[in-house]
Amino acid sequence: MFSGQPIIDHKKEICGGVATIREIKDVHKLINQIVGARALFTFSDIIGESGCFQNSIKIAQELAGSTSSIILQGESGTGKEMFAQAIHNASSFSHGPFIAINCGAIPRDLIESELFGYEDGAFTGARRGGRAGKFELANEGTIFLDEIGDMPLETQVSLLRVLQEKQVVRIGGYKSIPINVRVIAATNKNLEDEVRKGNFRKDLFYRLNVISINVPPLRSREGDVLLLARYYIRKFSIMLGYTVCNLDTEAESSLEMYQWPGNVRELANAMERAVNLAKGKTIRMEHLPEHLQKPVKTGRNKVMDIENLEKEIIIDTLKSVNWNISRGSLMLGMARNTLYRKLNKYGITIQ
Ligand SMILES: Nc1ncnc2c1ncn2[C@@H]1O[C@H](COP(=O)(O)OP(=O)(O)OP(=O)(O)O)[C@@H](O)[C@H]1O
Ligand SMILES: [Mg+2]
Repeated sequence: MFSGQPIIDHKKEICGGVATIREIKDVHKLINQIVGARALFTFSDIIGESGCFQNSIKIAQELAGSTSSIILQGESGTGKEMFAQAIHNASSFSHGPFIAINCGAIPRDLIESELFGYEDGAFTGARRGGRAGKFELANEGTIFLDEIGDMPLETQVSLLRVLQEKQVVRIGGYKSIPINVRVIAATNKNLEDEVRKGNFRKDLFYRLNVISINVPPLRSREGDVLLLARYYIRKFSIMLGYTVCNLDTEAESSLEMYQWPGNVRELANAMERAVNLAKGKTIRMEHLPEHLQKPVKTGRNKVMDIENLEKEIIIDTLKSVNWNISRGSLMLGMARNTLYRKLNKYGITIQ
């Protein structure tokens, strides 16, 4: 980047100038500092003591130092983004930026220019002077490709090329820009299934799947529900100015029995609501969301029909909000497109 400043003499005439030339890499660094492209979480922020969860943390910690690509697989709200940030902060890329991009949330025709950038005049509506893509901005740091399972097939081809060649060419450009970026991808889909169905390229899957870490759902994390519930009660009580309260035993067992389809995000929302309602007093059943107050049909040790339970919860929740998908997805702690997918999966029609 080149910028200049004129030098004006006592006669108010320009007698010279100072030109500053900065490497564009340094400018990107500055941009990242300003827009806050930093990872906030470290491994010590991740709460969970259950064996399966600790196991995932251990694998993530051990492999954080490697430069290989990582795929984080897990249901919505299990903490994949937290893991990605913690891995970044424990890696040799931690001094660089952490750039997250949600591949499912960007319109198909914009995703390539978001990722790879474009040159001046690459397409109508392109900004003058072109624009750097996320890969360029993430240089020397980590790029977090969230919801990679939703990436269009055409983009997958371009992504594979960038990963193999370790350089990007902006859309409409010809110059190769070398990049040194750690890639962490996340998905709540089963990517192997998506490969089988032809929705995800096999070659890209193998390229990314060098290290695969499974982030387990909350319902399979023995003991972590109450641990997290107490953490959130404390956090929200302090935030809202109430004294930190307890859960009564009935509320505790109801939390433990529940299946938490929206995982930690759903639990956090439920605890925020409970703290608001209990106002510093002991949290009881009546402070929990309605669908947690129902007597649980299956015992903890019995084999539960999780899918049926999830279907029932989705229907109940949607009924309670008059089938308003936005509010329903908020209450369930589930992204809208995840909810639509589940409606489709369970054959639920919106009423
Ligand atoms: N083990 C944990 N300890 C503390 N907080 C957690 C933990 N796991 C998740 N959270 C919190 O739960 C919320 C959801 O986590 P996150 O966004 O990482 O989930 P995700 O797996 O990326 O979900 P999605 O697939 O829906 O994007 C965040 O607010 C995060 O801080
Ligand atoms: Mg996420």
